[in-house]
Amino acid sequence: MELSLKVNGKLHKLEAPDDIPLLWALRDYLNLTGTKYGCGMAQCGACTVLVDGKAVRSCTRKASQVVGKEISTIEADQPSEQTAALQQAWRELNVHQCGYCQPGQIMAASALLASNSSPNDSDIDKAMNGVICRCGTYQRIRDGIKLAASNLQGDKGNA
Ligand code: FES
Ligand code: FES
Repeated sequence: MELSLKVNGKLHKLEAPDDIPLLWALRDYLNLTGTKYGCGMAQCGACTVLVDGKAVRSCTRKASQVVGKEISTIEADQPSEQTAALQQAWRELNVHQCGYCQPGQIMAASALLASNSSPNDSDIDKAMNGVICRCGTYQRIRDGIKLAASNLQGDKGNA
């Protein structure tokens, strides 16, 4: 079937199987390989992207279900302010280790900050639950989210 997917602000048309998961449409058809494959069963979060601002596991979401929606991946040239602040904080704190899980971590964190500008530890744990890091960077992820939140609040205060 022909699918029209709006990814990172651009409309793409692709000819793909009816049931193709969004993850494989992104990686194999659009060459957006920043979104990672981990478990394929919505259990690890490596494949998390934003769909209309919400964190979605792209391995189990059919591409046909997100036609007409705004899909954002780690490759966005013009990321949301939350994603940009998180990327900056990640660089400052060297959050990543091997890096494999980090696109999914940042997308999940971006959805959290869009709905909660000042998350506490428990909010972070709840929102990030199930986005697995085999390198165990959880504490730095938490610190990165808090730094991004505080930088965003500072930006607003200075506006
Ligand atoms: S690859 Fe999608 S949740 Fe693991
Ligand atoms: S940084 Fe290696 S899996 Fe998370």
